[in-house]
Parts: sequence; C-alpha cells; structure tokens
Amino acid sequence: MAFDILGDIAIVEPGTDGEKFLKEHKNVNVVLIKKGEVEGEFRIRDYEVAASRPEARNFDDIPALLRPRKITETIHRENRCRFKVDPTEAYFSVRLGTERARIAKMVKEGERVLVMFAGVGPYPITIAKIAKPELVVGVEINPYAVLFFEDNIMLNKCEGNVKAIEGDVKNVVPKLKETFDRVVMPLPKDSENFLYLATKKIKKGGMIHLYKILHENDLKAFLHELKRSLSRAEIDVIKAGEYAPGKFRYCFDIRLDARKPKKR
Ligand SMILES: C[S@@+](CC[C@H](N)C(=O)[O-])C[C@H]1O[C@@H](n2cnc3c(N)ncnc32)[C@H](O)[C@@H]1O
Repeated sequence: MAFDILGDIAIVEPGTDGEKFLKEHKNVNVVLIKKGEVEGEFRIRDYEVAASRPEARNFDDIPALLRPRKITETIHRENRCRFKVDPTEAYFSVRLGTERARIAKMVKEGERVLVMFAGVGPYPITIAKIAKPELVVGVEINPYAVLFFEDNIMLNKCEGNVKAIEGDVKNVVPKLKETFDRVVMPLPKDSENFLYLATKKIKKGGMIHLYKILHENDLKAFLHELKRSLSRAEIDVIKAGEYAPGKFRYCFDIRLDARKPKKR
C-alpha cells in the first residue's frame, strides 16, 4: 500500500497495521493513519496515531526553541531545507519537493516573489535557499500554519528576505505596497478564483504559477478560459504529479504581456 514519509512520520492508508509497519521501517518513529479526506479552507485531514516509539526520536540538531514538541510534529528535509510540520494542523505534501525546486530555479537574482496560500512556507523558503530573491512574501490564512512558517524561516535562516503574513489573500494582497516579478498560487482547488489579485500586483512581463487539479479531459476547456481572461499571456502547462487516475496537478506557468503582434 502507498505511504508518505514526512520526517520520521509515516502517513499510511486505513487498514495498515501500525506496529508491523514500525518494525519494518527503521527510519520511522510515528505511524499516522489517514482518516477522511483533505478538506476545509485549511486543506487538512484527520489522522490517528497507530504506533510510535517516542524514545527513538532525536531532534538534537535542531535549535532547542524550534524542536518538535508533539508526537504529530516532525522535521522534514527536502532541497537542502528543513521544515517543521504537523500534518494534523497544517497542509504539507512531501510529493511537491521537485515542483518547488523547479519554481525556485526559475527565480532570477533580485526578484520579488509573492506566494499566496503559503502553508508552513515550503515555496517561499525553497525559493530563498535555491535562488537569490530580494524578497519573498508568503500569505496564509491558517494561523497554525503561520506559526510553523515563522519557525521555518528561523530554522532555514531566511529572516533577511522571507516574510510571513497571516490572513486571507483577499484582504492582505490588495494592501501590499510592493509589486512582484512572480506570483505563486498553490491552491489547486480553486486558485483561478484569486487570479484577479495576482494580476493587480504583478509587474509587466512578470510570471504567475497557478496550480489546478483537473481531469486530463478538462484541460483544454480550462486553458481556453484562462487565455480568455488574460490577454496577451503566454501559458506553459506543466504536469506536477498524478492525483488520481486521469487526474493531474497541473501548473500553468503564465507569462503576462508576452505575446506580440506578428510582423506583416
Ligand atoms: C494546498 S495548501 C498549500 C500549502 C503550501 N503552499 C504547500 O505547498 O505546502 C493551500 C493553503 O492555502 C491556505 N488558504 C486557503 N484559502 C486561503 C485564503 N483565502 N487566503 C490565504 N490562505 C488560504 C490553506 O490554509 C492552505 O494552507
């Protein structure tokens, strides 16, 4: 059965024998069984602790004030970043590490980047670690996720150029003083409904990365609507993971004001 490894926590499907799983996986200290679906505004689900060996957990390499304290908290490592996470309190997907690195590698020195729906900060922090942005602002509505985001800024020593803001993007983004070279929108449920916020804050020629989970049969119609709502945009479609059979997490890399009239 499929499972995800988040730091020293394994996230497993219902029906998995937790104790047996723990015995068979020496790198795992906590087994969490999924209960229900990812839902609600915060995009989280319930879990049951199926088995654990708390005595084997070791976070000595983490500064004392930032160490996990609860059984459901851990430190996950990816792209040379460390993220303190608790899947029961805030969304985090281990399957997006490659995609986060793809975006970070596109960021040019001195860019200002806005990450809406920032969660515990994986996009802003990966961008700050891999690239050399002037500023990365992350906006997140879940107050628990923002606490982790703030800890993760310290854990990765990004205080100089990453800023976490708590609130609804609808209220926060219009009040931001800055304009941005790039806007990342990782809310695949309905990020297109917030596109109007991004187009107001982006510099001419800037890039928006909009995520959407779609069945492949619906891709053409979605792309058509996107092109209609954004004049003169050039859009690349990237498959960033399979969600269910035939259903994919797509990233639409949108370069605004890019299309020029053809020479006559
Ligand atoms: C799919 S998660 C992505 C989190 C993070 N970017 C990541 O990749 O791990 C979407 C996040 O958007 C947040 N969110 C949902 N609606 C929001 C809104 N209107 N304003 C700000 N954040 C919002 C949720 O709380 C959740 O943490």
